[in-house]
Amino acid sequence: ISLKHFNTFGVAATAQKFIEIQEEKTLADLYQQGYFQQKFFILGGGSNVLFTQDFEGTIVKVANTGIQHFIEGSNIFVTAAGGEVWNDLVWYCINHNFPGLENMALIPGTVGASPVQNIGAYGTELMHVFYSCRAFDTRTGEFRTFTNKACAFTYRDSIFKSKYKGRFIIVSVTYKLHLHAPLNTSYGAIEAELKRRNIIAPTIKDVAEVVSYIRVEKLPDPSTIGNAGSFFKNPIISNQQIEALREIYPTLVFYPLENNESKVAAGWLIEQAGWKGKEIGEIAVWKNQALVLTNKGKAMGIDILNVSTQIIDAVFQQFGIKLEREVNIL
Ligand code: EPU
Repeated sequence: ISLKHFNTFGVAATAQKFIEIQEEKTLADLYQQGYFQQKFFILGGGSNVLFTQDFEGTIVKVANTGIQHFIEGSNIFVTAAGGEVWNDLVWYCINHNFPGLENMALIPGTVGASPVQNIGAYGTELMHVFYSCRAFDTRTGEFRTFTNKACAFTYRDSIFKSKYKGRFIIVSVTYKLHLHAPLNTSYGAIEAELKRRNIIAPTIKDVAEVVSYIRVEKLPDPSTIGNAGSFFKNPIISNQQIEALREIYPTLVFYPLENNESKVAAGWLIEQAGWKGKEIGEIAVWKNQALVLTNKGKAMGIDILNVSTQIIDAVFQQFGIKLEREVNIL
């Protein structure tokens, strides 16, 4: 089966077998039949994966649906099935006037994938709204619930991407929101766009619309231009290294963190290294955001991977910082 329409990069690759999971009980059946003893890969929206070769195994696509909520005092617990489209969940919450997800509007992908890399944007990360998830253990055939703490979230990372990589299939996620949570509009780009629109007291919906607008302006739409969002993570380096770099590059873009470390804008590094907008065959580094690699149409995964290696080398040569890929390479 062709995977071209199951990865937002739109690269051509095939899988030996492809199974869609509509119901949880199918997982137990697959387990019984031994599918998880062979090679398999769990796919959500395909928006964070790069197929560099044909997949000699089974692709398990999580496709169950359903969203529910209940309110307890001022807490709102929203539970969504793993196969739900993330942005649909965001709008479910906005339409019910539940704050908390609006800054993450329009992030591609599914609910089930949201904890895996602790998705985040415009001043918010999933870990701040995540309550728990229910996941199928492909090793034991049993379901298990993970609390926020058990997921060991850090920047673009969780236990599902590290220790338990490829092992658990997340079938539903519960988010804990607060009815009266204040809106977070402190991210520069949000502030500026609200101002431009003359919005002084924004609603949840205003913030979601502004975020969606900024994303559309900056990021290529995967339905027309193949891409997987940020291809690299923003590297975290010591403040000592930051100071040394600032001597040479006074305009370095970085965000101080705890523990004497800072996160550097990888897009800035790549742009400085001369790669923004660069085209190599069917691949282009996005003109408005150098963190994003795009497929002009016929790129092969392996070629995209090679370009990413060239970028990593160029940034390392110039800044001594080793970029890490955010996208899953298969
Ligand atoms: N910048 C440049 N050149 C570029 C891109 C960025 O100089 O080509 C500089 C600019 O100064 C800009 C700063 O970097 O102000 C930060 O850029 P931006 O606000 O676009 O955010 P980012 O750090 O590049 C991260 C996430 C995005 C998320 C945005 C907004 C990562 C790897 N990426 O990008 O997430 O949408 O912040 O919060 O953390 C994704 O993960 O797929 C993704 C798109």
